[in-house]
Amino acid sequence: MKVGADITVAADRQTLAAKGAELFFQAALTAVQERGRFSVAVSGGSTPRRLHRKLADEYYAGAIPWSKGHIFWVDERCVAVDDPTSNYGSAKRDWLDKIVIPTERLHPMPARLPAEEGAALYERELREFFQMHANQFPVFDLILLGIGADGHTASLFPRQAALLEKRKWVAASTGGSPNVPRITLTLPVINNARKVVFIVAGKDKAGMVRRLLENGDTGLPAQRVRPINGRVRWLLDREAASLLANPGYFYHQVA
Ligand code: 6PG
Repeated sequence: MKVGADITVAADRQTLAAKGAELFFQAALTAVQERGRFSVAVSGGSTPRRLHRKLADEYYAGAIPWSKGHIFWVDERCVAVDDPTSNYGSAKRDWLDKIVIPTERLHPMPARLPAEEGAALYERELREFFQMHANQFPVFDLILLGIGADGHTASLFPRQAALLEKRKWVAASTGGSPNVPRITLTLPVINNARKVVFIVAGKDKAGMVRRLLENGDTGLPAQRVRPINGRVRWLLDREAASLLANPGYFYHQVA
């Protein structure tokens, strides 16, 4: 992915979260205006936590049409919801318990089942929700992603079978930190979304951000995110963007 990546660099992690919340809000409003509902899939890990808390603040808790939303997960670690590493558990504690949204609009992944079984069950839930034919892929209004320092995204890790999945919507995987069995959306689903936004913060990600955005095809998982409608955005804080040269990138610095 070379020239033309749409990159926003935020001064710090708080500003990054504010920008992420604004994008979430805009995507939700557009989807509701156009289709009467919005569907978003969120990633886990530590970076999204500030964004989740921002989405629970007074303004967004009131402004986003949650009663028309459906929250899905990009991936999940197969641990109990009260485990601190649970993506759903973390989002619940930071965000979902603080907004008014009917529980039937929350779609956590079945993390207490064996990963293969949980992946198949979640795929059935997605097919039911999106009402798609067998050979089609769902169209999420927004998918929020992070990256690991190894170039993974979602729970799609380098050299893993789940990364190469072309047919399933949801797959089992394992790896990352914590290195536990996981359930993850697959690349065909991620690349079929209307909007895909990477939110990345921290100096430890700067080297990988440069590789993903400035090197040729590395085959790394995050670089295989190429939405068919061409719309992928990168929201970076200054640290994560610190090794990027900027010829050709469309930067708009936010406060
Ligand atoms: C997961 C995430 C994963 C995450 C990256 C970055 O469940 O592990 O979905 O893809 O986005 O590992 O995680 P941090 O934000 O904690 O660096």
